[in-house]
Amino acid sequence: MDPLFLTTAIDYANAQPHLGHAYEKVLTDTLARFARRTGRKVRFLSGLDEHGQKVQQSAAKADKSPQEFVDGISVYFLNLWKDLRVEPDDYLRTTEGRHKKLVQEVLALLYAKGEIVKGTFRGFYSVRAEQFLTEKERQADGSWPEIFGEVVELTEENYFFKLSKHQDWLKELYQKQPQLVFPEFRTKEILGALEKPLPDLCISRPKTRLAWGIPLPFDDHQVTYVWFDALLNYVTGAGKGEGKLSDWVPAVHVIGKDIMVPAHAIYWPCMLRALGLPMFEKLLVHGFWTRKSEKLSKSTGNVVDPKILAEKYGSDSFRYYVLREMAGHDADFDEGSLAARRKGELAHELGNLLQRAGSMIGRYCDGKIPEGPTPDALSVAFRATVLGALRSWDDLMKGNQIHLALGELWKAVQAGNQMIETRAPWKLAKDPGQADALRATLSDAMAVLQLVLLEVECVIPTTARAGLQQLGLSGGVEPREKNWPQWPSGLSGLALGKIEPLFPLLDEEKAQGKS
Ligand code: MSP
Repeated sequence: MDPLFLTTAIDYANAQPHLGHAYEKVLTDTLARFARRTGRKVRFLSGLDEHGQKVQQSAAKADKSPQEFVDGISVYFLNLWKDLRVEPDDYLRTTEGRHKKLVQEVLALLYAKGEIVKGTFRGFYSVRAEQFLTEKERQADGSWPEIFGEVVELTEENYFFKLSKHQDWLKELYQKQPQLVFPEFRTKEILGALEKPLPDLCISRPKTRLAWGIPLPFDDHQVTYVWFDALLNYVTGAGKGEGKLSDWVPAVHVIGKDIMVPAHAIYWPCMLRALGLPMFEKLLVHGFWTRKSEKLSKSTGNVVDPKILAEKYGSDSFRYYVLREMAGHDADFDEGSLAARRKGELAHELGNLLQRAGSMIGRYCDGKIPEGPTPDALSVAFRATVLGALRSWDDLMKGNQIHLALGELWKAVQAGNQMIETRAPWKLAKDPGQADALRATLSDAMAVLQLVLLEVECVIPTTARAGLQQLGLSGGVEPREKNWPQWPSGLSGLALGKIEPLFPLLDEEKAQGKS
């Protein structure tokens, strides 16, 4: 199987992490864990985007040097990833020496090749968006949309990356390979943007206006435009941390829809081509989280703090909720549905299956998983349902449809609970003539739990591992066996660990129960 180089967008280090950042990193972490489970070798890269005007301004407001400021912000991000069990192989901060060295090497090379040239630029510049604006962005009344904040007119000597010369090639690339982008419908937006002539990209900023950036190796008075610097994190982080051009391997880039055009779908492939490097493998573009259908934004008080949610509901419930809820386009955050999914799908369905079957094994089988008899008709049908659900889960996960995949996996959990209801082991236990049926019920229940927990580890790593330990399986989560999915053998005789609720009642649920 091909190795996978999987990346996230690198977050701006100008403020603390929010729900959108957390969702993207959880999503990528889940894809990385899943790929490992299927036997792929994975390199998972994430990081922080630490240069640019926004950071410089936020640092000034906080009365700190930019480096001091980003060092402080990075702690919030790193702590959140720890809390959420987001575990990249490498976490790159763009202020690191290895990255600055790589960026300068790239700039020198592109300048020598004539892909970067000097020019004069006159235009309108948005400080907030850190970009020059074009006339098409101007509103009918001559003003600029509010999202751009303060807009000033500037004339500057700058350096330009010759995007225009790659335009025809790029258009043809997306026409021929629409699968470079997932979901594929998003290629329309890219092709739309490629209808008009591409202006060359201004990749430098005079130090007089912006000091906080990587200096150009061929002009002392200029620093690198933050996007040009940030995109190259994928090259610096591709290898063993040396930051060499030759480290690059085609990546699957997980990004939000707002940074697809122009940065990732236009600038980035042109940069790779200009450098003579192979194209990325895929852009995996996710939707946006909103709250009450509005943008998450500090100014409207509409922020959602993932740290607080993880503390209150547990990090796995948070992970499950965001992955189950985001269905490709956008998703609206609702704390009530997070609580409901935790209580329903996680505690009631998954948690109870383990709790019920586990405690009955304690009661009726001395705490050891019984050996199943030759499967009867009920057992055969049950196993077929479970294995079918696992196959669908696998297909959907491989197609990056995590929300649907979880729905399929839960069919296996639900079948487990249904099977227990149908067979009613508490009745079987009273009749010695039903000993086989009792053993069948409890061993099948443990088998489905093992199958599900090993798979769902990619989504809820802490709980899945705790559940596997309760089943007496302490070996962790290894890549699947070749003949997966197969009904587990070898569970019989395992002594269960201490059976405890996987998703215990929250304090407020306990309080409601008492009232
Ligand atoms: N620094 C750039 C990315 C450079 S990648 C070479 C950036 N940073 S960001 O902090 O603004 O966003 C980081 C990621 O979070 C992006 O993929 C962005 O789409 C995503 N999200 C930011 N807000 C979001 C939501 N409200 N919902 C979902 N994801 C969102 O852009």
